[in-house]
Amino acid sequence: MKCRKCGRPAVFNMRQHKLALCQVHYPEWFVAQTARAIEKYHMFTPDDRVLVAVSGGKDSLALWDVLLQLGYRADGLYIDLGIDDGVGYSAASRAKVEQFAAARANAHFTIVDIKAEYGETLPEAARRTRRGRGKPCSVCGLIKRHAMNRITRDGGYDVLATGHNLDDEAAVLFGNVLHWQTGYIARQAPVLPASGEGLARKVKPFCRFYERETAAYALITGIDYIYDECPYAVGATSIRHKGILNQMEEEAPGTKMQFYLGLLRARKEGLFRELAEEVELHPCANCGQLTSAPGLCTFCRLWREAPAP
Ligand code: AMP
Ligand code: FES
Ligand code: ZN
Ligand code: ZN
Repeated sequence: MKCRKCGRPAVFNMRQHKLALCQVHYPEWFVAQTARAIEKYHMFTPDDRVLVAVSGGKDSLALWDVLLQLGYRADGLYIDLGIDDGVGYSAASRAKVEQFAAARANAHFTIVDIKAEYGETLPEAARRTRRGRGKPCSVCGLIKRHAMNRITRDGGYDVLATGHNLDDEAAVLFGNVLHWQTGYIARQAPVLPASGEGLARKVKPFCRFYERETAAYALITGIDYIYDECPYAVGATSIRHKGILNQMEEEAPGTKMQFYLGLLRARKEGLFRELAEEVELHPCANCGQLTSAPGLCTFCRLWREAPAP
């Protein structure tokens, strides 16, 4: 197969775009597509200060790399959850973020170390509380959301960017459609407006890229990232949904993309306008972040909860 741009051997083929590119033109295409998505969805401008949530995985490190290349003012945020489980998952992913930043003069980042700041790692907090019984993933989501909002506000950033790709978004949509969670469907978008003081504006510049495309970019450009999934993700519903979508994609290339872009088109046509609920928010009495819960937010409550019986 030959590169469509220059005719040299292609290193990567995208069946859904009917496009094959070489190792020079693929990264070029990838960076240009990201720039287009940022502009198309009005995510941010070169004047904005962007906080990129980096997990040490391929998507978020590739995102940070591309934003720096495009000249955006992009700093990183790594949240150290203290996940060990014998494999040192958090320490290993933190090392990837540190290595990435050390190799680039303009890559500055903040680390939020959950154990150091709140006295417990994610697995410890999850074991102690009812919410975390079974799987710590819901406590994890709560902690990450809170840290992302906090650092965006305290660091004076205009916007928070995450590395969610099209496979992530399609799997979330699939799960929400299966259960007809119309409120969630109505809110799933490449840009989430700041919903109030302390709740960051959130953007997903990679939401149109397949996971294999972000992986190919990281591989071709030599970004070293953590290959392993979080040890708690094994058996997660979202991974099962990704498997089902991949089977359909195999038989009909473009299925995932059509599924997700269909959602964006429907939103543009106003299909979900009536479904988007307005929730009333108050500042948390402890941290000040807006919350729908009266008194303390769920995050602040987490650290005060007595051990579950
Ligand atoms: P995940 O929920 O693991 O699929 O990750 C989705 C996105 O959340 C990633 O692309 C990152 O932007 C962000 N993220 C996940 N884990 C972390 C972390 N430990 N620290 C900072 N950002 C993270
Ligand atoms: Fe949060 Fe796995 S990354 S539970
Ligand atoms: Zn080429
Ligand atoms: Zn709070």
